[in-house]
Amino acid sequence: MKNQSEHDARELLAQIDPQAVPAHIAVIMDGNGRWAQKRKLARIKGHVAGAKIIRRLTDTAARLGVKVLTLYCFSTENWRRPAEEVSFLMKLLQSYLNEQAEDMVRLGVHLSVIGDISALPDGVREEFERVMALTADCDTITLNLAVNYGARDEILRAAKNLAAEAARGELDPETIDEKCFGDHLFSAGLPDPDLLIRTSGEIRLSNFLLWQAAYSELYFVDINWPDFDDAAFYRAIIEYQHRNRRFGGVKNISPTK
Ligand code: IPE
Ligand code: IPE
Ligand code: MG
Repeated sequence: MKNQSEHDARELLAQIDPQAVPAHIAVIMDGNGRWAQKRKLARIKGHVAGAKIIRRLTDTAARLGVKVLTLYCFSTENWRRPAEEVSFLMKLLQSYLNEQAEDMVRLGVHLSVIGDISALPDGVREEFERVMALTADCDTITLNLAVNYGARDEILRAAKNLAAEAARGELDPETIDEKCFGDHLFSAGLPDPDLLIRTSGEIRLSNFLLWQAAYSELYFVDINWPDFDDAAFYRAIIEYQHRNRRFGGVKNISPTK
């Protein structure tokens, strides 16, 4: 079985045009709970299995030449989950960063975060700050984790900050354009995602990157996150490479070429 899936992955990899790999891939990692439920396991086991996928996917993405991998880890709405699940997810994030930090430096993985991490438990926030500082000079790939992230919250913060700058007389409202607005988002400095993947079969954005995904290619796949292997990732990229990106024009424009 393993050999078969490795064989499939190799065949799929050969179909990818290395010159047109999406520079930024964003993923809504969904279906951990359902993966566990199918196996009669507790939901948290699904989160543990899901966290293991992140390491491999980061390696695979880096090898393909992807420059930014944004992963939706915890939304502003996920606080509505049972307290035990929330606290487990927080600890899992902290231990993931702690275990991976040295390998991230070795592999050139630059950690960044979007979302309000000031609201996270101290230990988790400190681990984020530590690993971001440790990997500050890494430049093979940016692993951008969306934690306590909500696109509406992000847009509101930008609007408030712009209004405050204008009120202080530091900003002329007439000069607010897309670039200026984007520079006030958590994602300032990152390119927009070329490809946005959601696993688990749900077909919605769940408050993810509403501004940045304006022209992303959307890919929804009916695989729960812990089962999302290299072959599944390659299929998403192959599909992306067959899309026609027009950005409102008439000709296909590939910003990655
Ligand atoms: C995604 O899996 C992980 C997080 C939202 C943290 P879910 O926990 O949402 O899994 P399902 O959707 O209930 O199966
Ligand atoms: C989106 O998944 C958030 C993350 C993957 C972190 P959810 O499972 O929270 O989304 P809904 O509730 O099904 O829309
Ligand atoms: Mg879910």
